[in-house]
Amino acid sequence: MTQDYILEVQDLYKRFGGLEATRYVSFRVKAGELLGILGPNGAGKTTLFNQLSGAFPPTSGRILFKGWEITGLKPYQIANRGIVRTFQIVRPFRELTVAENVTIPCLSHRGRGLIGNLGQGGLRRWVTEVLEMVELAPKMHLAAGLLTHGELKKLEVARALAMRPEIILLDEPFAGLGYQEIAPVAEVIRRLNAENGVTVLIIEHKLREFMRLVKRIVALNYGEKIAEGTPEEIVQNPLVVEAYLGKGGTALANS
Ligand SMILES: Nc1ncnc2c1ncn2[C@@H]1O[C@H](COP(=O)(O)OP(=O)(O)OP(=O)(O)O)[C@@H](O)[C@H]1O
Ligand SMILES: [Mg+2]
Repeated sequence: MTQDYILEVQDLYKRFGGLEATRYVSFRVKAGELLGILGPNGAGKTTLFNQLSGAFPPTSGRILFKGWEITGLKPYQIANRGIVRTFQIVRPFRELTVAENVTIPCLSHRGRGLIGNLGQGGLRRWVTEVLEMVELAPKMHLAAGLLTHGELKKLEVARALAMRPEIILLDEPFAGLGYQEIAPVAEVIRRLNAENGVTVLIIEHKLREFMRLVKRIVALNYGEKIAEGTPEEIVQNPLVVEAYLGKGGTALANS
């Protein structure tokens, strides 16, 4: 049973003092899925990713990657196994070039294990290949600080891709982007899932593109899983609608 799932989240519970940020969240993900994590501000989405990526351990609960327990491992140990994340707020090295920004993760333990024996030429080819995947190859020699916000989001994805992840956790890859800038980033995500076979978990508030992109959604509210299903099922789910309308928020049904 377990081998059927690349990721199993079991009763994940995280307490910060008096606040229960994730409350017994359970779901399973098959290899090759493009899964959305939905929920209003403060629902526990980033906290979920923080636990999956090892930023901090859950208070209780378990995380299995391909049937192996990874609960409580350190970020580098989890990245080394193939689960790589991006951050809600991009963190490029602005003074380094685009190519150098992608080279750095290649020098991580996982990166070295996978591509270290290619030599310098091979490393350069791999960096170029990754930048081609996100359509940033023409800008590879520019300082990252000169990129637009949309390009920085692609660079953030490229930095994760450089480690050849099996699972990529994308925390709001469309945040701060204008409507025109979202489509190319969404296309990059669609392709890395469809063509490169990377399992994708994505958190997003930009619901229109999110609903088009993901195949299945896990919805959280106040740290709890309130629904799970296809985008069509989720937009009609009364608990999800209430979670959004109750916050005076997004016109979920119109997206
Ligand atoms: N390190 C932390 N220490 C204390 N409280 C935290 C910590 N991280 C998150 N929280 C709290 O946990 C709750 C969930 O936060 P989280 O960042 O996971 O929400 P989110 O769903 O990602 O929201 P958003 O959509 O605004 O990014 C919030 O109340 C937040 O203030
Ligand atoms: Mg968040």
